[in-house]
Amino acid sequence: MTSRPAARPRVPNFSSGPCAKRPGWTPAALADAALGRSHRSPLGKAKLKQAIDLTREVLRVPADYRIGIVPASDTGAVEMAMWTLLGPKTVEVAAWEAFGSEWVTDALKQLKISPRIHQTPYGVLPDLSAIDTKHNDVVFTWNGTAAGVKVPNGDWIAADREGLTICDATSAAFAQPMDWDKLDVVTFSWQKVMGGEAAHGMLVLSPRAVARLESHVPAWPLPKVFRLTKGGKLIEGIFSGDTINTPSMLAVEDYLDTLRWAGQIGGLDALHARADANASVIHDWVARTPWIANLAVDPATWSNTGVCLVIADADVLAKGDAVVARVAKGIVETLEREGVALDVGAYRDAPAGLRIWCGGTVERADLEALVPWLDWAFAQEKAKLAQAA
Ligand SMILES: Cc1ncc(COP(=O)(O)O)c(C=O)c1O
Repeated sequence: MTSRPAARPRVPNFSSGPCAKRPGWTPAALADAALGRSHRSPLGKAKLKQAIDLTREVLRVPADYRIGIVPASDTGAVEMAMWTLLGPKTVEVAAWEAFGSEWVTDALKQLKISPRIHQTPYGVLPDLSAIDTKHNDVVFTWNGTAAGVKVPNGDWIAADREGLTICDATSAAFAQPMDWDKLDVVTFSWQKVMGGEAAHGMLVLSPRAVARLESHVPAWPLPKVFRLTKGGKLIEGIFSGDTINTPSMLAVEDYLDTLRWAGQIGGLDALHARADANASVIHDWVARTPWIANLAVDPATWSNTGVCLVIADADVLAKGDAVVARVAKGIVETLEREGVALDVGAYRDAPAGLRIWCGGTVERADLEALVPWLDWAFAQEKAKLAQAA
């Protein structure tokens, strides 16, 4: 019988977003927030500009790419890009989990632009080589958070492309190498990976994306929060901190805090290394544990942020989907009740299982302490099944 572990994770926050705050975070990190001040005041604008500048520095965004702070988190940034850029070319959308599927719905049912859809079940990537990245516009997620499946690299994207690539990178930026040369639009939010407060989206545009914005007038109406051009020219102010509408200066301060922390620990390389080391704790445990398996089939696609796991125990699987779901739920509830892991259930539309966040704000020691609890919680579920039999 698996015995009850003695040690506990110091921080039990393994949620896939909002993610754990950076190590050592306390509300004192927000003491300098420009609260009660206008975001258009010199102080407010300077903070917004600093958030853009530090984003560029930490993520090593090319100097000729624009970075803007936009409304409505990552969803706002992706939809802003889709609504303002798509139309002139055939659009291909790749989706392998819930979030990518939202962009399929947007293209198909809202924009009605008859996209070519490359959709696969949870756990496997579509055949990316089937996408005509040379001629068409492409919308895809770099890391499918609900499946724990990432694209391994940008090699499948044509360097001499005529279309644009629109990449939802919210659970990849700050954790996985981004192939900037292959990406024309990159979006992400503050609460993911860096553990900032949720509010705003980040919209990164290549010069080619800007050229499209300035030369193309969408066939559909654009609400004010999506408008990036005026009189056919890019509104440059948006990309230096003159936001379209009012941002939360509290959230801005928190984002600045976590970006400064990133700088202190060694920048992007350190963030990548932390996520890799964290994810390897889970992947190594999965490799030696027969009752659990990775949802992502191909190891080249294994995420180092939201690692998604499914039950692989033959006895449990033999009892059918409802029992598998009950066992997964039971593990999640036990871990939560014990206060050793919070929010580790699979995404609501994903196959039943666990999802454990491994991004850079999580401490490796906490994941190491969690692993014995996972075995223990599963043993409790097996005992319940044996009793019921
Ligand atoms: C890949 C992906 N896209 C989009 C979203 C939605 O992000 P937001 O809530 O920041 O709009 C998420 C959130 O988990 C995500 O993981």
